[in-house]
Parts: sequence; C-alpha cells; structure tokens
Amino acid sequence: MTAEPLVLGIETSCDETGIGVVRGTTLLADEVASSVDEHARFGGVVPEVASRAHLEAMLPTMERALDNAGVTLSDVDAIAVTAGPGLTGALLVGVAAAKGYAVAAEKPLYGVNHLAAHVAVDRVEHGPLPEPAIALLVSGGHSSLLLVEDLAYGVTPLGATIDDAAGEAYDKVARLLGMPFPGGPPIERAARDGDRAAVAFPRGLTAPRDQAAHRLDVSFSGLKTAVARWVEARERAGERVPVADVSASFQEAVCDVLTAKAVDACLSHQVGTLVIGGGVAANSRLRALAEQRCARHGIALRVPRPRLCTDNGAMVAALGAHLVAAGVPASRLDLAADSALPVTTVAL
Ligand code: KG4
Ligand code: ZN
Repeated sequence: MTAEPLVLGIETSCDETGIGVVRGTTLLADEVASSVDEHARFGGVVPEVASRAHLEAMLPTMERALDNAGVTLSDVDAIAVTAGPGLTGALLVGVAAAKGYAVAAEKPLYGVNHLAAHVAVDRVEHGPLPEPAIALLVSGGHSSLLLVEDLAYGVTPLGATIDDAAGEAYDKVARLLGMPFPGGPPIERAARDGDRAAVAFPRGLTAPRDQAAHRLDVSFSGLKTAVARWVEARERAGERVPVADVSASFQEAVCDVLTAKAVDACLSHQVGTLVIGGGVAANSRLRALAEQRCARHGIALRVPRPRLCTDNGAMVAALGAHLVAAGVPASRLDLAADSALPVTTVAL
C-alpha cells in the first residue's frame, strides 16, 4: 500500500453529513451538508430528523466531494466511515452508505472512531502528529484529555467530563440567554463585547481537594447552574441581564479550566505537544488562551482551522489515510455502528 493513500471519508454521527477526500496528509475535498437549521427550533439535534437529512444529503454531497477532489470512486484506496460514537440512526446511514460504496467499488472499508478522527484531522493542517501527544477533545457530546502514543492503534484516556461536555455547556447557557442552537458561536460573538472578569463563575474540579480523584477531569454542570442562578437573580430583581458580560465570564470559566488541565496533562506526562480538536476548539478564546499557556511552558500547540474543528468528512478521511498508511487491517464488511464506541477503539 502506498504511503500516501487516497481515502474517502464519510461522517454522519450527528447533524452534519460530511464527505472528505484526503491523499496522505493532503486535503483534496471537504464537503459538509448540515441539518442544523432543521433542529434549531427544538434547541438540540432531533435524531430522526438528522437521519432523514443524512439520507437526502448523501448522494449530492458525495458527488460534490469527488468532483472537487477531481477523483472518482475507483481511484480511492479505501473508504473510511464514522462507526461511533454518535446517534445510532445517523451513524447507520453513513455506515450503510459506506458499505454500499465499498462493495460496489471493491474497496477496503474502515469503520473509525469519531473522536480519534477529531484528533487526526490536524494532520491535514500541520502534517503528521508528533507522538506522544496530549489531545484535548471538546465537542457537543465529549470532553476528554487523551494520551496519544500511537493514533493508529489506540489512545489512553487521562480524564473526561464527569457531567456535561464543554459544547453542551455552551448550548445550555446559550439557551438560557435566549440565543440559538448551537450555542458556541453566538456566545463567542456576544463575549467579544463583554468583560471576562465581570462575574467570577466557578471553575469545576480545580479545588485542591479534587486533585487526588479528578486532577484531569472536568465538570461543567455546576458552572451552567451558577450562570442560571445568576441570571435568574437579575431577572427577579427586575434588572437588565448583561448578556455580553455573562457570555464572556462563562466562556472564560470554560476556557480557563480546559487549558489549565490540558497544560497540566502535558507537564505531568512530560509530553511536549498538545493538539485540540472538536467543535469547541473553533472557539477563539480557547485558542488564544491555549496559545498563551502553551507558549509559557514550551509546549507545541496544534489546533486545526475552525472549519476542521466542527464535524466534517475530512477528519474521517484523514484518520482513514493514517490507518491505511500504518498498515492497519480493514474492517469487516458486516461491521456495526456503535453509538457508544469507546475512545480507546480507533478502528473496528
Ligand atoms: O464536534 P462538533 O461539531 O459535534 C460533536 O461531535 O458534538 O461539536 C459541536 C459543539 C456544539 O456544542 C457547539 O456549540 C460547539 O461545538 N461549538 C462551539 C463553537 N463552535 C461550535 N463552542 C464554542 N465556540 C465555538 N466557536
Ligand atoms: Zn464531533
């Protein structure tokens, strides 16, 4: 197998139908069709609506991706697809499509882990990832710190959220501030005009007593409740809620904890590279704070451009290309989608 395999990646774990094409570490196409507008009025992703949207978007998105990459299905060396974690019905659409394409074009099929793909996508931006690396993975469904010794074969979880994911906290706080779903982008925008020191919101699991059991874990549920109480108290007093200040102070609490714990993971495991991935990694304050703190400790920071942080097919293709180049065997054609696929399983 070539060292620069041409791989097609299919992502349907949530509300984005993503198809990407990668050759080695070069991104050739990244097409995304989102059903986010169809979920907005429900304040969260509706699984059945997402599954139907994937079904409708699959063929046109595939055509656009192949066109843009200037390749045909018969050119590719392998097809990779997100097998989990994610919404079962949504995953099934991608896995079924990938099986169909793999059988029709007689290509090997790789069922891969969505979370590992969020880490692998950095390869198309910054080249091969130095290993070991620490990965901070922050999305709508997950918040984890991982030790990446060999991304092709597995990662070691060092810590995770004990309640809400970071993106989930953004989405919930946005909702209580009357902002649309998903909440990350509107909170980030509102925070630009706010004072991050306006309200001292709590930093979960950072007290000395949490060090023994939860040093690299995070918790955002207390923060969300604190924001809700603070806003309710203003409303009860008949006062205006300073949305920009609340957004900036909330965002600071999230980004402060995430970057402090990520740097702590690097230092305590003597690892010199930090990679950040997942939808929340698109956040400019998280990126800026991570840059400052990594620079202070001599840690090399890698964060892909915002478009590659949120869900897309390029990340699946990037991981697939890495697996093929590393000689990892293909998945069986009867592979099943696994909505709860553990982060330790990179490929099925
Ligand atoms: O990785 P992703 O696209 O989907 C999942 O795998 O969950 O992440 C989506 C999450 C949502 O919770 C969204 O609010 C958050 O990422 N997000 C952001 C930003 N863009 C997306 N959070 C903070 N700042 C952003 N700019
Ligand atoms: Zn994701």
